Amino acid sequence: MRTRILTGITTTGTPHLGNYAGAIRPAIVASRENGADSFYFLADYHALIKCDDPGRIMRSRQEIAATWLAAGLDADRVTFYRQSDIPEIPELTWLLTCVAAKGLLNRAHAYKASVDKNLEQGEEPDAGITMGLYSYPVLMAADILMFNAHKIPVGRDQIQHVEMARDIAARFNHLFGNGKDFFVLPEALIEHSVATLPGLDGRKMSKSYDNTIPLFGSAKALKEAVARIVTDSRLPGEAKDPDTAHLYTLYSAFATPTQTSVLRAELLDGLGWGEAKQRLFELLDAELGEGRERYQQLIARPDELEDILQAGAAKARKTATPFLEQLRQAVGLRSFKAQVGAAAPEKKKAAKAARFVSFRDEDGGFRFRLLAADGEQLLLSRAFADGKAAGTVSKRLQQGEALDIRAQGHGFGLWLDAEQVATSPSYVDEQARDAAIDAVRSALQLQG
Ligand code: TRP
Repeated sequence: MRTRILTGITTTGTPHLGNYAGAIRPAIVASRENGADSFYFLADYHALIKCDDPGRIMRSRQEIAATWLAAGLDADRVTFYRQSDIPEIPELTWLLTCVAAKGLLNRAHAYKASVDKNLEQGEEPDAGITMGLYSYPVLMAADILMFNAHKIPVGRDQIQHVEMARDIAARFNHLFGNGKDFFVLPEALIEHSVATLPGLDGRKMSKSYDNTIPLFGSAKALKEAVARIVTDSRLPGEAKDPDTAHLYTLYSAFATPTQTSVLRAELLDGLGWGEAKQRLFELLDAELGEGRERYQQLIARPDELEDILQAGAAKARKTATPFLEQLRQAVGLRSFKAQVGAAAPEKKKAAKAARFVSFRDEDGGFRFRLLAADGEQLLLSRAFADGKAAGTVSKRLQQGEALDIRAQGHGFGLWLDAEQVATSPSYVDEQARDAAIDAVRSALQLQG
């Protein structure tokens, strides 16, 4: 099985250059590697936990979807979807909620930080804390376990959540697995080499510091942001120290090694800051120009964006729907009708007891019958010239050869190596015929 990589992006805010260098660009590179099976999704249910402004939720989902696609994510190659388009996720969340220990969630950093803050301010411990915030790690576990992802690229603040997903998965496997593991135990993947970009003022680029450089805004906005980068007050002609200049750090995050060493030499040689900013602007403009155009197109055509995400959801649900059905079965949420089949022990015994009987017909031909447990004839073979030939065919059927069954009116034939080797009785109608086909299938699958 290929390694499945999955990560979610909470949809509050607009991605900036720091998100691009730190998360988006490396994720897209990883998705292009051979053997990668990547799931990227917009964690818009998670966004609701932090934000009660519908307009902002709506805008952010659109901007983030457009950003990833404009940055080069190939939606055909990866599975790219919105969390809220997968109804199986909240359903799985509930199944997991019922096995997640409350004590485990009490220890979640995000929740604990809110409690501590309340206590500091002399409030009730849980003042203003929603169940959404409290259960956040269970929803995240459902995101991960729904698709049995192996590796979860996340920031350090999320490691604990991935570990909780492991805990919850192991608990579910233990309770309901019956010797079989439903869930893969996921692991956090921390990219040490990934750049944390400095912002305009030299601190980590972050929306909360208001020091960001826009990603796919206009060229004008990019130029204005670059002009606001803080530098020291050395004049053109004076030597600059590249290692203390975050302008240089920003430049090197996007330049080739050769370009970087050229700028380094020039700064040491007295290149003016204004000129250095112009170089940085040109570099970023070249890297982002194409994506910016595609971004503007996608934002202008939300229908197209919607179609891409719907296709992604359909792809994700191909895995999620049948898997959730298995999980529902495992916990006991089964159809009453399925109880006919769920009386499995009897049926299995019956099927096991189905048997082959060989005999010689009046013309001296060698034949066999397949009889159900109750003695009812399911199949009659054609006549073979010798007992060995008949035996070989019945043996192959018992050994579970793929069954080629073809309906013929109210009966059916069984084919092997492009010839018909056995025939069923004729039944009263097609329904009875199909039931008999099922009986043959289960008889032959469970033989031996
Ligand atoms: N909580 C993550 C964050 O804020 C986003 C997220 C939601 C996520 N579900 C996930 C990340 C599943 C990885 C896997 O960064």
